[in-house]
Amino acid sequence: MQRTEDGQIVKLTDYRPTDFVLRGVDMTLKLFEGHTDVVTILSLERREGVPADAPLSLDGDELILASIAIDGETLAPARYEATPERLVVRQLPETGNFELRLETRIAPEENTKLMGLYRSNGIWCTQCEAEGFRRITYFPDRPDVLAPYRVRIEAEKAVAPVLLSNGNPIESGELPEGRHYAVWDDPFNKPSYLFAVVAGDLDALHDSFVTTSGRTVSLGVYTEKGRAPQAAYAMDALKRSMAWDERRFGREYDLDVFNVVAIADFNMGAMENKGLNVFNHKYVLLDQDIATDTDYAGVETVIAHEYFHNWTGNRITCRDWFQLCLKEGLTVYRDQEFSADEREPTVQRIASVRRLKAHQFPEDQGPLQHPVRPGEYREINNFYTATVYDKGAEVVRMIATLLGAADFRKGMDLYFERHDGDAATIEDFVACFEAASGLDLSQFALWYAQAGTPTLSVTERWDPEERRHTVKLRQSLTQGAAGTGTEPMVLPVRFGLVGGNGEDRQAAAEVSGEARLKDDVIVLTGREATITFGGLSDRPYLSVLRDFSAPVMLEHEQSEAERLALGRLDPNLFNRWRALDDLIAEALTTAARRPLGDGEPALKAAIVDALLASADDEDLAPAFRAQALTLPGESDVARQMRENVDPDRVHEVVDAARVTIGAKGLAMFERLSAGASATEAFSPDAESAGRRALANAALAYRCAATGDPDAAVAQYRAASNMTDRLGALAILAHRFAGEAASESALDDFFRRYERDDLVLDKWFALQATAPTYTAVETVERLANHPRFTMRNPNRVRTVLGSFAAGNQVAFHRPDGAGYRWVAEKLASLDRINPQIAARIATTFRAWRSFEPARRAKLDETLRQLSEIKGLSKDLQDIVDRSRK
Ligand code: ARG
Ligand code: ZN
Repeated sequence: MQRTEDGQIVKLTDYRPTDFVLRGVDMTLKLFEGHTDVVTILSLERREGVPADAPLSLDGDELILASIAIDGETLAPARYEATPERLVVRQLPETGNFELRLETRIAPEENTKLMGLYRSNGIWCTQCEAEGFRRITYFPDRPDVLAPYRVRIEAEKAVAPVLLSNGNPIESGELPEGRHYAVWDDPFNKPSYLFAVVAGDLDALHDSFVTTSGRTVSLGVYTEKGRAPQAAYAMDALKRSMAWDERRFGREYDLDVFNVVAIADFNMGAMENKGLNVFNHKYVLLDQDIATDTDYAGVETVIAHEYFHNWTGNRITCRDWFQLCLKEGLTVYRDQEFSADEREPTVQRIASVRRLKAHQFPEDQGPLQHPVRPGEYREINNFYTATVYDKGAEVVRMIATLLGAADFRKGMDLYFERHDGDAATIEDFVACFEAASGLDLSQFALWYAQAGTPTLSVTERWDPEERRHTVKLRQSLTQGAAGTGTEPMVLPVRFGLVGGNGEDRQAAAEVSGEARLKDDVIVLTGREATITFGGLSDRPYLSVLRDFSAPVMLEHEQSEAERLALGRLDPNLFNRWRALDDLIAEALTTAARRPLGDGEPALKAAIVDALLASADDEDLAPAFRAQALTLPGESDVARQMRENVDPDRVHEVVDAARVTIGAKGLAMFERLSAGASATEAFSPDAESAGRRALANAALAYRCAATGDPDAAVAQYRAASNMTDRLGALAILAHRFAGEAASESALDDFFRRYERDDLVLDKWFALQATAPTYTAVETVERLANHPRFTMRNPNRVRTVLGSFAAGNQVAFHRPDGAGYRWVAEKLASLDRINPQIAARIATTFRAWRSFEPARRAKLDETLRQLSEIKGLSKDLQDIVDRSRK
């Protein structure tokens, strides 16, 4: 691997504790227009056994040291060395506590990386995970250095009447010259990445929550001026999250206050700072006029996720960044369980599996592959990935499946009991489940170490004489870019034997080979095993890998007739959905391998009929029926093809399938799309959202079949909520791109919502993802639009990000114009916000899977990017690894 100047590789095996123990942190931040003065007092002590001459070495990032003193005495220059990235202090007391006082002056106004302390629309806020705290003060900026913090904030009262930090507020008052201050005290030991400060002229929504043990917690959601009413749903989701964590995991909140702040310029979704969560305002602010049902679900999930971190992340944090999945995978698992309980479990599971396959599978099968617990990194910010988050959650879900609900809960309880206050490791976590269940999880732990998606192959044989059904399971794993092992893993395979009336059959089972049976789960531990089911009256349908019980690629030799039967009968609704989804995905993939313009229909009539029957089945939840109608995306088909992908052909195939389905089901789609929401008062609950999802899916098929935008235009005009309005607009902007109906709706949308950046993002994104070659010119125009700015990550993501990841046709335009445009923008974005640039650049990782002409152009684009002088560590890392 090529190394940049500051690009040393950090390795898990190099871990060792710090030489000095941190006892406490006392900070004062004096906020002024143009600069902020930071005074930090660290209470330190040399760790036992550390040599007396060992210096103290602190992290910094673009810092300038203004003063340094120990126990009240200014240090002579010979005793320390300060660069923007490091402060080394020598000749420190051999024993006992000493106080190191540091002053730095920083410029939040000029901080465009949005890491550390920065200003967004006049509001001061912080983002410290993973390594942002070192941009505020020199510090042992690593997650295993825990301490209580006391923070004093001073600012001009008119500019920043609200002053927030972690913990509980303990003091506030007036200062001369129209300034004031507030002091916050966080009694819980925490690592620096959970530090937060917010100051500004904010509105707030206040409420309270009474915990099981009867403590009243005051809750606040802070917003830009005038937007507090739009925080009502976030507040509601917060209270439901707090109640759920008590109910489900016995976890109570621990401080007197819990605050959430919505910020317009934010690099990520949100951040779980202790007692002061900071959010991208996209995940807080909404109402029915500006937000879709998907946005509502997103707010609910992210609010829950960050709240749940209070126990899984904050009370128990990570020893080092290699353990990131310890908090992220576990917390995603918890937020998924929450959504399953609050909404419709099957639909939630389908959504999670879709996301896993769309984002994690390609990562796991390409050059950016890494294990759930990586072994090394050059830039940790590039490891907040689908593998750490989503596969990390799948690994936790497998532990729950292997142990069963009761033992899983016992293991979680033990984890909280044993490790409260610790900076823990994956080994610590796994050990709790071993202790709770008596199971040996050492082989299971390979899930954390071995990268790649295992393949699970399933074959069946029915023996009519003996009335026996034999199922053979085989697993394999090939080594990929991460170069990790390929030992067999522990695969929990949930299954059922489905009879002709859609009932789950019981059968005596015999296992041979390396597997065991636990209730309805086959636990495959070796490369292969055979399970024989006896005493069956006739051949059952095998429903396997129910609920996607392991994150694998399934190769199940099963006839089309059997799969169609399961798509109709399977009592496990997830598998009922998957039976058809797999059939469709395979048919589309096969068709996409044929040349462009091939007129053969991609989907057989029987499959189309099955899909339509599912969509029309009133016994099923509308949300489920909407999922059934959602075809695999173009990038899903491209991923399944694996090589020689022609995105134009993929688009042609997927679109033709939509037209075929739409035409055959036209009468039904007309009926289902008719009443979108016209008569119903808006409610964001899952059931209502499901009805809207079904109606909007139906509208899309209807317009695909008729080629007529009128129905979409009518819904756009009549819509009484954003879900229906945007649903219609998406059809117009994509299917009828460039036509008058589309242009005038887009213009209308812009005028209507011009004042709201969150809604404007939807307008930008829809145009950036229109599947036409001219979208390259469109995004060029959008990037020059007065409302476009590289300073706002949401805006960048909705133009650059959606184009690169969500527009297969235009991004991959054969002349390479899409690649060139993205690369050029990334190069300038990198100088402003490297983290966002690196994230968007990951779309290039799939370059090897395309047909030769595009592959060559992608390769060339990556090469040119890699050779740009002064590229950030973030972007350089992604580009270099993608080329491997
Ligand atoms: N911990 C935050 C979350 O839950 C995300 C922080 C992302 N940080 C980063 N450097 N990308 O989910
Ligand atoms: Zn998280």
